[in-house]
Amino acid sequence: MSETARPVVVLGVSGGIAAYKAVDVCRRLVDAGAHVAPVMTEAAGRFVGRTTFDALASEPVQVSLWGERSPIPHTRLGQHADVVVVVPATADVIARYAHGMADDLLTATLIATRAPVVVCPAMHTEMWEHPAVQANLATLESRGAVIVPPETGRLAGGDEGAGRLAEPAVIVDAVLAVLARTGRSPAPTAAPAPASATASPSASASAPASASGEGGGDLAGLRVLVTAGGTREPIDPVRVITNRSSGKQGHALAEAAYRRGAAVVLVTTTDRPVPGGIDVERVETAAQMEEAVLRRAQGADVVIMAAAVADFRPKAAADAKLKKSAGVPEIILEPTPDILATLGARRRPGQVLVGFAAETGDVREQAAAKLASKGVDLMVANDVSAPGAGFDHDTNEVTLLDRLGGAHQVPLTTKDAVADAVLARVATLVARR
Ligand code: PMT
Repeated sequence: MSETARPVVVLGVSGGIAAYKAVDVCRRLVDAGAHVAPVMTEAAGRFVGRTTFDALASEPVQVSLWGERSPIPHTRLGQHADVVVVVPATADVIARYAHGMADDLLTATLIATRAPVVVCPAMHTEMWEHPAVQANLATLESRGAVIVPPETGRLAGGDEGAGRLAEPAVIVDAVLAVLARTGRSPAPTAAPAPASATASPSASASAPASASGEGGGDLAGLRVLVTAGGTREPIDPVRVITNRSSGKQGHALAEAAYRRGAAVVLVTTTDRPVPGGIDVERVETAAQMEEAVLRRAQGADVVIMAAAVADFRPKAAADAKLKKSAGVPEIILEPTPDILATLGARRRPGQVLVGFAAETGDVREQAAAKLASKGVDLMVANDVSAPGAGFDHDTNEVTLLDRLGGAHQVPLTTKDAVADAVLARVATLVARR
């Protein structure tokens, strides 16, 4: 394989004790067939020697913004990266990246790139749990970064707790998953390209920019199925049982997934306009939605059920309009099929399932129960009694609950921003499949 055909991985190393593990990540990525361009912060140099990366990576390590081999190294690295991975990502680097600072080569490269970014935090438990760190990570995740969360275990100084860098194999899997989604999977090499001082920086500079799906974002290459709107269950030819869903949240999800590079199918009950490029199927009843979703889900990597599907429908719709003169009709209801639970029971290996739980009262508890009973990966708990949230508003406020017990709050914001927060989480879940 020629050097230029290799996907370019910019490996950012920041100054934490776990920097030594970045050496292993570097070696594994080179073995996997990637062209690894390492970038260290000044602080990283206190934990691991640059000669080590020079010896293992595909090109010599770079540290400075100022003219090591190129007058504008951050744009060269940023533009030609297929993925940027930060191992370890300290609280400081996470904060600077989240706030758009670009005061060293690593953060400048992160800001200069349009490639997907994988962030692998590592720090002491107190720092990891600090609200500022969590808020900065949530910001990065909402912008599309893939976060590889730290593990719980032994930390520097003999302490135990959350914050230990994920294992190198897990990090490499996450990077390879991102490359696979963007169509830039490396071909493994038996004889990895040796790092050498003679490796030409122009080798990676001439590497092709990342191939991507529509939009080229963190969902490129994925097929995402989204549902939207409230179903309408006929009572007779003129009357229906329905709910207050406008379809805004589901449509925002479909559009955001499309912007992030996915091939999107939208099954919707509404006649809202949909941008070209999204494959729309319009349905009305729960039964029609069930048929469309089960058919379309077979080819989907991700299914997001934002639709408000009726739980009950008239057992038999009248063929003719019910006459007022005949008195108050007795309408017998029957349960509708639970589409999401069916998807959960039949899911394809690797498929990621997302549900929404529209609740009032103890929203989180009820949403967690639905997460478990419907067998999904992520449940978006939607308190539809909160001001400005839920049905028909342009804004929403949700908590993302995952199967591992993780909870991430998205405060009141636009439905577009909620969609991006959900999809950022989806990208992380896909990377872990
Ligand atoms: O459309 P908007 O006006 O923008 O409002 C957005 C919203 C409030 C509708 C949305 O954010 C939301 O919460 N959607 C889920 C509504 C809902 O049906 O919640 P639920 O708790 O009843 O259902 C839980 C999950 O099971 C949902 O993913 C639902 O799609 C699914 N379900 C429910 C019933 C059923 N028969 N089949 C299903 O698949």
